[in-house]
Amino acid sequence: MKLAGKIAVVTGGANGIGEALCRRFAAEGAEAVIVLDLEQDNAERVAADISTTTRAEAFGCDVANEAQLTGILRDIEAKYGRIDVIFSNAGVGSADGEGGIAGPGATSDVWQRCWEINVMAHVYAARQVLPGMIARGGGYIASTASAAGVLNQIGSSVYGTTKHAAVGFAESVAIEHGGQGIKVSVLCPQAVAPRMIANAGDEGGVQGGDGIATVDQVADSVLKAMDEEKFMILPHEEVLVYMQRKTSDYDRWIGGMQRLKARFQQRSKSQQQ
Ligand SMILES: NC(=O)c1ccc[n+]([C@@H]2O[C@H](COP(=O)([O-])OP(=O)(O)OC[C@H]3O[C@@H](n4cnc5c(N)ncnc54)[C@H](O)[C@@H]3O)[C@@H](O)[C@H]2O)c1
Repeated sequence: MKLAGKIAVVTGGANGIGEALCRRFAAEGAEAVIVLDLEQDNAERVAADISTTTRAEAFGCDVANEAQLTGILRDIEAKYGRIDVIFSNAGVGSADGEGGIAGPGATSDVWQRCWEINVMAHVYAARQVLPGMIARGGGYIASTASAAGVLNQIGSSVYGTTKHAAVGFAESVAIEHGGQGIKVSVLCPQAVAPRMIANAGDEGGVQGGDGIATVDQVADSVLKAMDEEKFMILPHEEVLVYMQRKTSDYDRWIGGMQRLKARFQQRSKSQQQ
């Protein structure tokens, strides 16, 4: 699908990857780009910037709040006549305000908040826009998961688990609705600068091993994949090799991840000394 002439909504569009997507969708000639984010001021900044070339609007929105998110999406459908592309990109590292580490022992509140933002928000958005898209014979449902959604996340069970669920949901929408003209893509990057990764240290933590991508590189990958209507978007190509290794020998892959975790624990211990 080409973005030109489309009505596109991006959640988490006020910063980072989401902001880059809003700017790129506008540059590609989208008819309107709507920025949704918890940070209303930053969402308005992005919308104001792109409104020089494209219709743009910003909404302060907590995507974990179903009534708020679906109410805004309904208003957009009413005002613009349709939503052609929804990009559920808003996400959190661990939802504990620390932006990173949350093992299996994280509190239920942390698990619940992360579940709502990283997974349920994708469900709420899809549930709202799918009927209109199906009636019109097409639409694009895209989302940002993470390489952690296919390979897991050393140091954060909460992140790895919820991002796997986000990938599972995207797969399911593609399977259930592909025959009705619905295109689906899921973005699964490793480390991306600048914000979320800034919490993981200078080298991007474990996920920075294959280099830290810029948000513009990620936007390039997204545009190419959407143009080709490809499901899996991997800005770090190494991820495909790791996925193949994982599926070809699960136990060997778990052993490799255990060794990688031990190496990083050792490295952070020696950095602290
Ligand atoms: N940065 C990375 O290294 C990396 C790697 C893989 C995947 N991701 C994923 O990419 C997506 C974007 O992350 P980013 O790196 O651009 O981070 P970021 O912090 O720069 O941007 C995330 C945006 O989401 C918004 N947001 C958070 N919770 C929200 C909520 N409840 N409702 C509405 N908006 C909310 C934030 O305000 C922020 O503007 C996330 O889903 C993240 O998990 C990031």
